[in-house]
Formats: sequence, structure tokens, C-alpha cells
Amino acid sequence: MAELQIRTFGDPILRQRAREVEEITDLHKSLIANMTETMHLAPGVGLAATQIGVLERIFVYSVDETVGALINPELVYRSTETDTDIEGCLSLPGIQFPVERSVEVTMRGLDENGDRVEIEATDLLAVVFQHELDHLDGVLFIDHLPDDMRKEALRALRDQALGLTVPARDPAPEGRPEEML
Ligand code: NI
Repeated sequence: MAELQIRTFGDPILRQRAREVEEITDLHKSLIANMTETMHLAPGVGLAATQIGVLERIFVYSVDETVGALINPELVYRSTETDTDIEGCLSLPGIQFPVERSVEVTMRGLDENGDRVEIEATDLLAVVFQHELDHLDGVLFIDHLPDDMRKEALRALRDQALGLTVPARDPAPEGRPEEML
């Protein structure tokens, strides 16, 4: 297995829509194994293929003991009940902002063996599913922020790109373990 390079803000690939996977090959299986390793090394709780520069509709997740991959994921249910929690992204290092997400979602897709699966997710896993599906559509979590917060986020990303500030991964705000998606 190999650790893959995670694309970061400014890379135009992060803004593209990924294609459906038509046939799952051995290449997809090794891609998923490498993505899972890369996610764990980051460390992160989710990673979309877009983030490593592959425009195919695949993401991996790892929340508590639940580790898996979803291919061609579709959101078939999202609760109207939402929660707003601090979110980070492996492709936007150094910034964290509160994002409103549905508390419960149901996703359909294929696992890495090509078997159809339907997964009900709550709490952090539900956040991961929504965040990673967004990546496959070229959407970043900052797109969900109110205008003033999004401007603040873009300013912080610009300052980092100019080398004015260094992305700080630790310590996490308020001592909360940082979860990167
Ligand atoms: Ni992300």
C-alpha cells in the first residue's frame, strides 16, 4: 500500500465533479486500500477520491470501528433535524468552522466488492457522508458557511498560501479532538 498525496485548496481538481464508476476493477480495490491508509495516516475520518486527484465517485470513511468505502454513493434520506458542529478538511489544512448538517442520513452505493449497500448514519458518520459526497460534487465545507465566515476562511487560506501564517493542526480548539474529513 502507498500513502497518496492529498490535494489542497487552490488545486482546481477539488472543484470538479467526479464521474460514476462503471465497473469496479482491481485498480479500484488497490486505490481504496491506498485511500484508507492515507486517511488513517493523515489522520482523518473520511477521504474522497477527488482529494487525491482521482475524479471517480469513491470515498472511504473511518468512524470509531466503522471503516469502509462507498462507490457511486447516493443520498436517499436526510433528516430535517440538523446540528452545527466544527468541521475541518484534509484539503483545507489549518481552518475549522461550524457547519450545519443533517443529523441522520441514509446512503446507498456499492462497497469495494461491488455489492449494493444501504447505510444509515448518525452523528459524526452522517457528517462524514455529507462532507465526502460534497467533495465528489466539487463542493467544500466553506461553501456552506454564512458570507462573513466564508470570507474569514478564505482570508485565512490566502494568508497561509502567502506564507504569512502556518497551518496549525494542534492543539485542537477547546481541547476537542480534531476530526479531519
Ligand atoms: Ni474534506
